[in-house]
Amino acid sequence: MSTDPSPLGKSVPLVPPLYQSSVYTLPDLDALDQISDGVEPGFIYARDAHPNARRLADILAGWEAADWAIVTSSGMAAISAILLATCQQGDRIVASNRLYGRTTQLLGQESPRFGLSTVFVDPGDLPAIEAALKPGARLLFVETMSNPLLRLADLAALAALARASGSLFVVDNTFATPILTRPLQLGADVVMESLTKMIGGHSDVTLGLLAGRGELLPQVTAASSIWGLSANPFDCWLAERGLATLPLRMQAASDNALSLALWLEGQKGVSRVVYPGRTDHADHQLAGSLLQGGYGNMLCFDLAGGRDAVNRFLRLASGIPFSPSLGNTTTTLSHPASTSHRYLSPAERKRQGISDGLIRLSVGIEPLDVIQAEIRKGLA
Ligand SMILES: Cc1ncc(COP(=O)(O)O)c(C=O)c1O
Repeated sequence: MSTDPSPLGKSVPLVPPLYQSSVYTLPDLDALDQISDGVEPGFIYARDAHPNARRLADILAGWEAADWAIVTSSGMAAISAILLATCQQGDRIVASNRLYGRTTQLLGQESPRFGLSTVFVDPGDLPAIEAALKPGARLLFVETMSNPLLRLADLAALAALARASGSLFVVDNTFATPILTRPLQLGADVVMESLTKMIGGHSDVTLGLLAGRGELLPQVTAASSIWGLSANPFDCWLAERGLATLPLRMQAASDNALSLALWLEGQKGVSRVVYPGRTDHADHQLAGSLLQGGYGNMLCFDLAGGRDAVNRFLRLASGIPFSPSLGNTTTTLSHPASTSHRYLSPAERKRQGISDGLIRLSVGIEPLDVIQAEIRKGLA
């Protein structure tokens, strides 16, 4: 089979091609040297680089206002890559105490095996963060918006503290996406996104992103290639297609979420609604300054009847699938106490405000009344 692109003549495909090839052919050793040395553009082996990942990274670098970006095989791969690229044995990390569970495991359980230590601190307690950063922690890691209670981190204030202590400030922006906020413009050094969620947007890819300011790309690229964290072409191709509608999807889903957050309060059996767009949310004011164009598509509510009421809701509102991820075009639902926070003790869950009746919605872009009708069924 010919791989010569000349059959296209002068035609250029409107849609970017999918380069589903794990390796490239080269005319001679000189060409290989030139590509390897970065003198000429080109690709050799897909684990090191391939056109679909490069395209996606370049587009996302623009969206994140970054100097560089790299796509990885998952959000967790992106977090692993930044640790592997920047940390040495003996380094200390300061991290939020309300991170995604697997990130907490990576920092708290896995990294110590490689000589890293992490201290977990409430990112809203700036004096505690400042104290923990001293003297010279290697890295500060927080999420823009936490799961599931959607607490916000004051990124500009945290960036100033990280800068003062010479620490690299890394922000997981998955729940906000670059549509709502761009952490690099607020002083972060590196932003990480799970593209598996809203950015991919259709629950059919597993990918991550690192984007940053400054000179870190060679180290991050080496870590990704050597530790085998690279993204596959088809997922990159799908994610690029998802990007075309990301601003529209985020707008529509945020509008739906705000309407639902206000409407849910009056519904029978609902004892609490958690949404940063509500004036009673703990970080409502911060949300106003941190987020642009909306408060996001994630929303939680508590059912007074606890776990039994949640089970009833799941069975009755079957049009909102119980699906413990987020960012699909349609509304999905999760139960943090049984999924993301399952392995915390009941006392710790209580301390964090995660009750057995708490339902987390990833609000989609359906017409609002379709979602409301389904929620009404669940509450019946
Ligand atoms: C906030 C956050 N960060 C990181 C991740 C990990 O992303 P991935 O599942 O793409 O590895 C997740 C996954 O749910 C997440 O919610």
